[in-house]
Amino acid sequence: MVLRIITSGFLASVLLLASCGSSSEKVEETMSDENKPFSIDDAKAVFTMRCASCHGDDGKLGMSGAKDLSVSKLSDKEILENVMNGKNAMPAFKEIIPNEQHEQILIYIKSLRK
Ligand code: HEC
Repeated sequence: MVLRIITSGFLASVLLLASCGSSSEKVEETMSDENKPFSIDDAKAVFTMRCASCHGDDGKLGMSGAKDLSVSKLSDKEILENVMNGKNAMPAFKEIIPNEQHEQILIYIKSLRK
């Protein structure tokens, strides 16, 4: 009898632990889904949404005096300065594009060069 109570108590706590464990794993999975690294495809999506209206999907549109990104020769640092702080008719994006996305955005911008 005593043994039975102990056993069932033990089992219950094992079950409890097991279910706790799996539910926190689930939370981690969902969180890591949401925090998955910003990919080059995400950078493309940002470009299409934020930049293509002036630069075009291929970087060559030149709307509102936008520079042709396929022939741009700027360094990474100059590109980021231009994009984050803006220049003439080019709006600043530092409030819109967070630091952790800069690298992929840079890679994507440079992939437009021929
Ligand atoms: C409202 C139109 C507009 C939008 C939207 C825009 N740009 Fe521009 N962009 C310009 C203009 C105009 C210039 C030229 C600025 C100058 O040098 O006078 C420019 C220049 C640039 C340059 C420098 C190219 C060079 O060789 O000098 C880069 C890089 C660039 N844009 C990237 C981007 C990116 C990335 C985005 C989106 C996050 C973006 N632009 C959104 C208008 C725009």
